[in-house]
Amino acid sequence: MPRAPEIAPAGPVDAAELAALETSLARGATRERLLEILLEVRDAKGGRGISEKGLRHLADRLRLFPAEAYEVATAFPAVNYGASEPYATEACGDLACALRHGTTSGRGVCRNHCDGPRQAPEPRSFAAYRAAGGYGVLDALRDDPDAPARILELIATHHAVGRAGVGFPVAEKWRQVMAAAGTPVIIVNVDEGELAIFKDRFILESDPHGVLEAALVAGRVTGADAIFLYVRDDYAPIHAILRQAMSDVVAAGLTEGIAIELRRSGGAFICGEETALIASLEGRPARPSERPPFPTERGYLGRPTVLHNAETYFRLRAAWGAAPDPAVPVSGLLDPQAAVFSVSGRVRAPGPKLAHGLARLEDLVELAGGMAAGARLGGMVVAGSSGTLVAAADCRRPLADLLAEGLRLGTRGIIVFGADDDKRAIAARMAAYLARESCGQCGPCRVGTAKAAHVLAAPEPLDMSILGDLSTVMGEASLCALGRNAGRFLGGLSSSLAPSNP
Ligand SMILES: Cc1cc2nc3c(=O)[nH]c(=O)nc-3n(C[C@H](O)[C@H](O)[C@H](O)COP(=O)(O)O)c2cc1C
Ligand code: SF4
Repeated sequence: MPRAPEIAPAGPVDAAELAALETSLARGATRERLLEILLEVRDAKGGRGISEKGLRHLADRLRLFPAEAYEVATAFPAVNYGASEPYATEACGDLACALRHGTTSGRGVCRNHCDGPRQAPEPRSFAAYRAAGGYGVLDALRDDPDAPARILELIATHHAVGRAGVGFPVAEKWRQVMAAAGTPVIIVNVDEGELAIFKDRFILESDPHGVLEAALVAGRVTGADAIFLYVRDDYAPIHAILRQAMSDVVAAGLTEGIAIELRRSGGAFICGEETALIASLEGRPARPSERPPFPTERGYLGRPTVLHNAETYFRLRAAWGAAPDPAVPVSGLLDPQAAVFSVSGRVRAPGPKLAHGLARLEDLVELAGGMAAGARLGGMVVAGSSGTLVAAADCRRPLADLLAEGLRLGTRGIIVFGADDDKRAIAARMAAYLARESCGQCGPCRVGTAKAAHVLAAPEPLDMSILGDLSTVMGEASLCALGRNAGRFLGGLSSSLAPSNP
């Protein structure tokens, strides 16, 4: 009778990897830090992911089954599990890069350099921010027991709403958190994983204390004891800026009773979805979960959680009286009429553009230095990877009319394309992005995004009825907004790709 092959023992972990693991574990050996530990080991190995032996050791140290650790390690592209090549994020085949650099392949995400080489301003320092009256509201919150209710009322009357797309009222979210059982947690969402969006990066590299102050106010008003800054893994300059800002506020004694921690995300668009984000903070794969319960009631480790986009926090200061400062351009966002657009694609000067009461989408081309050499405006992709292809003629119509007809601006991503660009190829790239970024948890989204990408990229004439069917199924049966929005995007293609809409 043949003998069963012997299973090789795991063997010792490479000494350098073991040292990196133990250094990271010494900062906190908890399951909640699992993703961060994996990223720290990757960094220590020059971008190569943790090995199988290393992962087994880590599972053992965290008292997890190896399969649990493996599930997390393989769920995040940035962990680069077991790879012999460093995690590379420079070459990107996504739409904005393809239009600008002609790239045709790549694994996506290139540190959001859709606006070309970075010319970052110096971030406003803690001393300068404090001298301009910053953090004064925290003094009031410390000294006056009525201040929390007053600040909440100011936020409500200011009609502050979330800036991540849905526009949910901020005060309502905080009230829900305060009404729920348990000590609240505050999360600042800087995942910014959506295609060609770089507004949060712009805000944080200019005025990080504007975001930190508002997060601390959220903490004081709701009675939270922890703040997480959840930041894109490949935003290394932003990590440095935020770490400096965090150590300044801690040193100034402004955080007493509230722990602030920066955590990196795992290199996938879905990491920014609130329930997936919370899962990754808990050391689980970033997969969205059903709601209710909403994170306001049961969020991070079952605790009530305030979670907002970085821009939402930044703009809150206007509610308690901060005004725009001409020396700090990004502070123009304290004007409720102002908006920041991430403009990329075929323009001369892509980048974050501040606009006050934008009349026409076409005006954004002028703000971005005009069309790139040799290009004529063909249209714009508005609102990111599952957005709308708006034809040039519509870009010249009043924006108010387009909004009244149902156009959504989302987080204000604008990818400009030229008259010679093929709209179907553009739609195919958007669909390919969605197919790659679907977490695969539910069939309509996993199969639907892949099928749509295939159909759009195929050489055959486009069968609109297939896209229509996919749109219906994905819109109705997807668990989270990625799949539902992808369904809406496919539904919109029937008009934007119709021959009568050049
Ligand atoms: C696929 C997907 C990705 C998301 N990515 C982000 C993100 O990168 N940043 C963000 O603030 N919100 C993102 N969101 C929205 C969050 O789930 C959440 O609604 C938002 O952070 C709430 O912020 P607000 O209250 O400031 O609007 C994403 C949603 C989905 C469905
Ligand atoms: S809709 Fe897509 S991204 Fe969202 S949970 Fe389902 S498979 Fe994942």
